[in-house]
Amino acid sequence: MTGASSGIGEETARLLTAKGWSCVLVARREDRLRVLAEEIGGEVELCDIGDRDAVSALGERILARHPAIHLLVNNAGMPARGTYLTVDPELVERVMDVNYHGGVWCTRALMPGLQEAASAGGAHVVNLVSVAGTVAFAPAGAYAAAKHAQLAYSRSLAAALRGSGISVHSVLPGFVETEGFPQKNVLKSGLLRRFVIYPPRVAEAILDAVEKGKREVTVPWFPYRLIGIAQAVAPGVVARFVGMSDYKRGTSRLGR
Ligand SMILES: NC(=O)c1ccc[n+]([C@@H]2O[C@H](COP(=O)([O-])OP(=O)(O)OC[C@H]3O[C@@H](n4cnc5c(N)ncnc54)[C@H](OP(=O)(O)O)[C@@H]3O)[C@@H](O)[C@H]2O)c1
Repeated sequence: MTGASSGIGEETARLLTAKGWSCVLVARREDRLRVLAEEIGGEVELCDIGDRDAVSALGERILARHPAIHLLVNNAGMPARGTYLTVDPELVERVMDVNYHGGVWCTRALMPGLQEAASAGGAHVVNLVSVAGTVAFAPAGAYAAAKHAQLAYSRSLAAALRGSGISVHSVLPGFVETEGFPQKNVLKSGLLRRFVIYPPRVAEAILDAVEKGKREVTVPWFPYRLIGIAQAVAPGVVARFVGMSDYKRGTSRLGR
Protein backbone atom coordinates (compact mmCIF):
# COMPACT_ATOMS: atom_id res chain seq x y z
CA MET A 1 0.00 0.00 0.00
CA THR A 2 1.81 3.15 -1.13
CA GLY A 3 0.96 6.54 0.36
CA ALA A 4 -0.24 4.99 3.61
CA SER A 5 0.87 7.88 5.82
CA SER A 6 -2.26 9.99 5.27
CA GLY A 7 -5.58 10.48 3.52
CA ILE A 8 -6.97 7.78 1.23
CA GLY A 9 -4.01 5.43 1.74
CA GLU A 10 -4.21 5.57 5.53
CA GLU A 11 -7.96 4.83 5.51
CA THR A 12 -7.55 2.06 2.96
CA ALA A 13 -4.82 0.40 5.03
CA ARG A 14 -7.18 0.52 8.05
CA LEU A 15 -10.04 -1.01 6.07
CA LEU A 16 -7.90 -3.70 4.42
CA THR A 17 -6.48 -4.68 7.80
CA ALA A 18 -9.98 -4.89 9.26
CA LYS A 19 -10.83 -7.27 6.39
CA GLY A 20 -7.90 -9.52 7.22
CA TRP A 21 -5.17 -8.25 4.89
CA SER A 22 -1.59 -7.81 6.14
CA CYS A 23 -0.24 -4.51 4.82
CA VAL A 24 3.21 -3.20 4.01
CA LEU A 25 2.83 0.55 4.57
CA VAL A 26 4.94 2.63 2.19
CA ALA A 27 5.58 6.41 2.20
CA ARG A 28 8.35 8.88 3.16
CA ARG A 29 7.20 10.09 6.63
CA GLU A 30 8.37 7.41 9.03
CA ASP A 31 6.72 8.91 12.13
CA ARG A 32 3.27 8.79 10.52
CA LEU A 33 3.75 5.23 9.25
CA ARG A 34 4.96 4.03 12.66
CA VAL A 35 1.87 5.47 14.38
CA LEU A 36 -0.39 3.68 11.87
CA ALA A 37 1.58 0.43 12.13
CA GLU A 38 1.23 0.65 15.91
CA GLU A 39 -2.53 1.00 15.48
CA ILE A 40 -3.25 -1.63 12.82
CA GLY A 41 -0.14 -3.78 12.67
CA GLY A 42 1.65 -4.16 9.37
CA GLU A 43 5.17 -3.36 8.23
CA VAL A 44 6.74 0.01 7.51
CA GLU A 45 8.79 0.74 4.40
CA LEU A 46 10.23 4.18 3.61
CA CYS A 47 10.56 5.11 -0.04
CA ASP A 48 10.26 8.05 -2.42
CA ILE A 49 8.29 6.38 -5.19
CA GLY A 50 9.38 9.03 -7.68
CA ASP A 51 12.92 7.63 -7.46
CA ARG A 52 13.20 4.56 -9.70
CA ASP A 53 16.32 3.12 -8.02
CA ALA A 54 14.76 3.55 -4.58
CA VAL A 55 11.65 1.72 -5.76
CA SER A 56 13.76 -1.18 -7.14
CA ALA A 57 15.44 -1.51 -3.74
CA LEU A 58 12.03 -1.32 -2.04
CA GLY A 59 10.77 -4.15 -4.26
CA GLU A 60 13.77 -6.33 -3.35
CA ARG A 61 13.27 -5.73 0.37
CA ILE A 62 9.54 -6.54 0.23
CA LEU A 63 9.94 -9.61 -2.02
CA ALA A 64 12.63 -11.03 0.29
CA ARG A 65 10.01 -11.13 3.07
CA HIS A 66 6.90 -11.73 0.92
CA PRO A 67 7.53 -13.83 -2.20
CA ALA A 68 3.79 -13.70 -3.03
CA ILE A 69 1.97 -10.36 -3.16
CA HIS A 70 -1.80 -10.58 -3.48
CA LEU A 71 -2.60 -6.88 -3.70
CA LEU A 72 -0.66 -3.77 -4.67
CA VAL A 73 -2.40 -0.43 -4.14
CA ASN A 74 -0.61 2.32 -6.07
CA ASN A 75 -2.04 5.23 -4.12
CA ALA A 76 0.87 7.58 -3.30
CA GLY A 77 0.48 10.88 -5.08
CA MET A 78 0.92 14.63 -4.81
CA PRO A 79 -1.00 17.73 -5.85
CA ALA A 80 0.13 20.29 -8.45
CA ARG A 81 -2.27 23.19 -8.32
CA GLY A 82 -1.85 25.95 -10.88
CA THR A 83 -2.43 26.30 -14.61
CA TYR A 84 0.27 25.60 -17.19
CA LEU A 85 0.88 29.37 -17.21
CA THR A 86 1.70 29.55 -13.52
CA VAL A 87 2.94 26.15 -12.33
CA ASP A 88 6.68 25.77 -11.48
CA PRO A 89 8.58 23.78 -14.15
CA GLU A 90 10.03 21.58 -11.39
CA LEU A 91 6.52 20.70 -10.29
CA VAL A 92 5.51 19.75 -13.85
CA GLU A 93 8.32 17.16 -13.83
CA ARG A 94 7.94 16.02 -10.24
CA VAL A 95 4.18 15.37 -10.49
CA MET A 96 4.84 13.16 -13.51
CA ASP A 97 7.60 11.29 -11.65
CA VAL A 98 5.45 10.64 -8.59
CA ASN A 99 1.85 10.35 -9.85
CA TYR A 100 2.57 8.49 -13.09
CA HIS A 101 6.03 6.91 -13.05
CA GLY A 102 5.80 6.06 -9.33
CA GLY A 103 3.03 3.53 -9.91
CA VAL A 104 4.76 2.13 -12.98
CA TRP A 105 8.00 1.53 -11.04
CA CYS A 106 6.19 0.02 -8.03
CA THR A 107 4.25 -2.38 -10.26
CA ARG A 108 7.37 -3.47 -12.11
CA ALA A 109 9.36 -3.89 -8.90
CA LEU A 110 6.67 -6.07 -7.29
CA MET A 111 5.67 -8.00 -10.43
CA PRO A 112 7.47 -11.24 -9.41
CA GLY A 113 5.43 -11.30 -6.18
CA LEU A 114 2.19 -10.56 -8.02
CA GLN A 115 2.94 -13.35 -10.50
CA GLU A 116 3.68 -15.75 -7.66
CA ALA A 117 0.33 -14.90 -6.04
CA ALA A 118 -1.43 -15.17 -9.41
CA SER A 119 -0.14 -18.71 -9.88
CA ALA A 120 -1.54 -19.56 -6.44
CA GLY A 121 -5.03 -18.16 -6.99
CA GLY A 122 -4.95 -14.52 -8.07
CA ALA A 123 -3.52 -11.06 -7.49
CA HIS A 124 -4.72 -7.47 -7.85
CA VAL A 125 -3.21 -4.10 -8.70
CA VAL A 126 -5.27 -1.02 -7.81
CA ASN A 127 -4.21 2.29 -9.34
CA LEU A 128 -5.55 5.39 -7.58
CA VAL A 129 -6.10 7.65 -10.54
CA SER A 130 -8.55 10.60 -10.40
CA VAL A 131 -11.40 12.14 -12.30
CA ALA A 132 -8.57 14.45 -13.43
CA GLY A 133 -7.45 11.44 -15.48
CA THR A 134 -10.52 11.81 -17.69
CA VAL A 135 -11.19 15.56 -17.48
CA ALA A 136 -8.50 18.11 -18.36
CA PHE A 137 -8.93 20.26 -15.24
CA ALA A 138 -7.15 23.48 -16.23
CA PRO A 139 -6.57 24.86 -12.69
CA ALA A 140 -4.30 21.84 -12.08
CA GLY A 141 -3.08 21.23 -15.62
CA ALA A 142 0.13 19.34 -14.85
CA TYR A 143 -1.67 17.17 -12.28
CA ALA A 144 -4.40 16.33 -14.83
CA ALA A 145 -1.78 15.46 -17.46
CA ALA A 146 0.00 13.09 -15.03
CA LYS A 147 -3.34 11.48 -14.10
CA HIS A 148 -4.26 11.08 -17.80
CA ALA A 149 -0.91 9.29 -18.27
CA GLN A 150 -1.55 7.16 -15.19
CA LEU A 151 -5.00 6.12 -16.45
CA ALA A 152 -3.57 5.17 -19.85
CA TYR A 153 -0.90 3.10 -18.05
CA SER A 154 -3.51 1.45 -15.83
CA ARG A 155 -5.78 0.56 -18.76
CA SER A 156 -2.93 -0.73 -20.91
CA LEU A 157 -1.52 -2.77 -18.01
CA ALA A 158 -4.99 -4.31 -17.50
CA ALA A 159 -5.01 -5.34 -21.17
CA ALA A 160 -1.43 -6.64 -21.08
CA LEU A 161 -2.15 -8.78 -17.99
CA ARG A 162 -5.46 -10.19 -19.29
CA GLY A 163 -5.59 -13.90 -18.53
CA SER A 164 -2.50 -13.78 -16.29
CA GLY A 165 -4.40 -14.03 -13.00
CA ILE A 166 -3.45 -10.45 -12.10
CA SER A 167 -6.45 -8.09 -12.21
CA VAL A 168 -5.85 -4.38 -12.62
CA HIS A 169 -8.38 -1.90 -11.23
CA SER A 170 -8.49 1.85 -11.87
CA VAL A 171 -10.21 3.89 -9.14
CA LEU A 172 -11.06 7.48 -10.07
CA PRO A 173 -12.12 9.64 -7.12
CA GLY A 174 -13.53 13.13 -7.50
CA PHE A 175 -12.60 15.80 -4.94
CA VAL A 176 -11.61 14.20 -1.61
CA GLU A 177 -10.72 16.16 1.55
CA THR A 178 -7.17 15.17 2.58
CA GLU A 179 -3.94 16.79 3.79
CA GLY A 180 -2.38 17.16 0.37
CA PHE A 181 -5.71 18.10 -1.20
CA PRO A 182 -7.56 20.33 1.31
CA GLN A 183 -10.41 20.80 -1.17
CA LYS A 184 -12.82 22.59 1.17
CA ASN A 185 -10.19 25.32 1.63
CA VAL A 186 -8.83 25.61 -1.87
CA LEU A 187 -11.76 25.18 -4.27
CA LYS A 188 -13.26 28.51 -5.24
CA SER A 189 -16.58 27.16 -6.51
CA GLY A 190 -19.22 26.53 -3.84
CA LEU A 191 -20.84 24.06 -6.24
CA LEU A 192 -17.64 21.98 -6.55
CA ARG A 193 -17.13 22.13 -2.75
CA ARG A 194 -20.56 20.49 -2.32
CA PHE A 195 -19.27 17.37 -4.08
CA VAL A 196 -16.23 16.90 -1.82
CA ILE A 197 -16.15 13.45 -0.18
CA TYR A 198 -13.92 11.93 2.56
CA PRO A 199 -11.29 9.14 2.44
CA PRO A 200 -13.39 6.29 3.95
CA ARG A 201 -15.71 6.42 0.94
CA VAL A 202 -12.77 5.94 -1.43
CA ALA A 203 -11.35 3.14 0.73
CA GLU A 204 -14.71 1.32 0.44
CA ALA A 205 -14.63 1.79 -3.34
CA ILE A 206 -11.12 0.29 -3.51
CA LEU A 207 -12.14 -2.76 -1.50
CA ASP A 208 -15.32 -3.13 -3.55
CA ALA A 209 -13.35 -2.99 -6.81
CA VAL A 210 -11.05 -5.78 -5.61
CA GLU A 211 -13.80 -7.97 -4.12
CA LYS A 212 -16.20 -7.59 -7.06
CA GLY A 213 -13.59 -7.48 -9.83
CA LYS A 214 -14.55 -3.98 -11.05
CA ARG A 215 -12.10 -2.74 -13.67
CA GLU A 216 -12.81 0.98 -13.53
CA VAL A 217 -14.69 2.84 -10.81
CA THR A 218 -15.54 6.53 -10.51
CA VAL A 219 -16.32 7.58 -6.94
CA PRO A 220 -18.80 9.11 -6.51
CA TRP A 221 -20.43 8.22 -9.83
CA PHE A 222 -22.41 11.47 -9.95
CA PRO A 223 -21.53 13.98 -11.28
CA TYR A 224 -18.02 12.94 -12.26
CA ARG A 225 -18.78 10.04 -14.60
CA LEU A 226 -21.08 12.29 -16.60
CA ILE A 227 -18.38 14.97 -16.86
CA GLY A 228 -15.91 12.33 -18.06
CA ILE A 229 -18.34 11.22 -20.76
CA ALA A 230 -18.98 14.86 -21.72
CA GLN A 231 -15.20 15.41 -22.04
CA ALA A 232 -15.01 12.48 -24.47
CA VAL A 233 -17.92 13.56 -26.68
CA ALA A 234 -17.79 17.38 -26.39
CA PRO A 235 -14.35 18.49 -25.19
CA GLY A 236 -14.95 22.10 -26.27
CA VAL A 237 -18.00 22.45 -24.02
CA VAL A 238 -16.16 20.90 -21.07
CA ALA A 239 -13.13 23.15 -21.67
CA ARG A 240 -15.40 26.22 -21.42
CA PHE A 241 -16.99 24.91 -18.21
CA VAL A 242 -13.67 23.89 -16.64
CA GLY A 243 -12.09 27.20 -17.69
CA MET A 244 -14.54 28.97 -15.37
CA SER A 245 -13.48 26.95 -12.30
CA ASP A 246 -10.41 27.81 -10.27
CA TYR A 247 -8.66 27.48 -6.93
CA LYS A 248 -8.79 30.31 -4.43
CA ARG A 249 -5.98 32.84 -4.88
CA GLY A 250 -2.81 31.95 -2.95
CA THR A 251 -3.78 28.32 -2.29
CA SER A 252 -1.47 26.61 -4.78
CA ARG A 253 1.00 25.82 -1.98
CA LEU A 254 -1.57 24.74 0.61
CA GLY A 255 -1.32 21.10 1.64
CA ARG A 256 1.89 19.22 1.07
N1 LIG B 1 -7.76 14.14 -2.51
C1 LIG B 1 -8.28 14.21 -3.73
O1 LIG B 1 -9.10 15.11 -4.04
C2 LIG B 1 -7.93 13.16 -4.74
C3 LIG B 1 -8.79 12.99 -5.83
C4 LIG B 1 -8.50 12.03 -6.77
C5 LIG B 1 -7.36 11.26 -6.65
N2 LIG B 1 -6.52 11.44 -5.61
C6 LIG B 1 -5.32 10.62 -5.53
O2 LIG B 1 -5.38 9.84 -4.36
C7 LIG B 1 -4.05 9.51 -3.96
C8 LIG B 1 -3.89 9.77 -2.47
O3 LIG B 1 -4.00 11.16 -2.23
P1 LIG B 1 -4.66 11.76 -0.90
O4 LIG B 1 -5.76 12.65 -1.34
O5 LIG B 1 -4.93 10.72 0.08
O6 LIG B 1 -3.48 12.75 -0.44
P2 LIG B 1 -2.60 12.82 0.89
O7 LIG B 1 -3.42 12.73 2.11
O8 LIG B 1 -1.75 14.00 0.69
O9 LIG B 1 -1.72 11.48 0.81
C9 LIG B 1 -0.72 11.31 -0.15
C10 LIG B 1 0.09 10.11 0.25
O10 LIG B 1 1.08 9.87 -0.77
C11 LIG B 1 2.36 9.82 -0.16
N3 LIG B 1 3.37 10.35 -1.09
C12 LIG B 1 3.37 11.53 -1.73
N4 LIG B 1 4.47 11.65 -2.48
C13 LIG B 1 5.20 10.53 -2.28
C14 LIG B 1 6.44 10.06 -2.76
N5 LIG B 1 7.17 10.80 -3.60
N6 LIG B 1 6.89 8.86 -2.35
C15 LIG B 1 6.15 8.11 -1.50
N7 LIG B 1 4.96 8.48 -1.01
C16 LIG B 1 4.50 9.68 -1.40
C17 LIG B 1 2.24 10.68 1.09
O11 LIG B 1 3.18 10.25 2.07
P3 LIG B 1 4.54 10.98 2.46
O12 LIG B 1 4.35 12.45 2.31
O13 LIG B 1 4.75 10.53 3.87
O14 LIG B 1 5.56 10.42 1.55
C18 LIG B 1 0.84 10.34 1.54
O15 LIG B 1 0.86 9.14 2.28
C19 LIG B 1 -3.12 10.33 -4.85
O16 LIG B 1 -2.65 9.51 -5.91
C20 LIG B 1 -4.03 11.41 -5.41
O17 LIG B 1 -3.58 11.90 -6.64
C21 LIG B 1 -6.79 12.38 -4.63
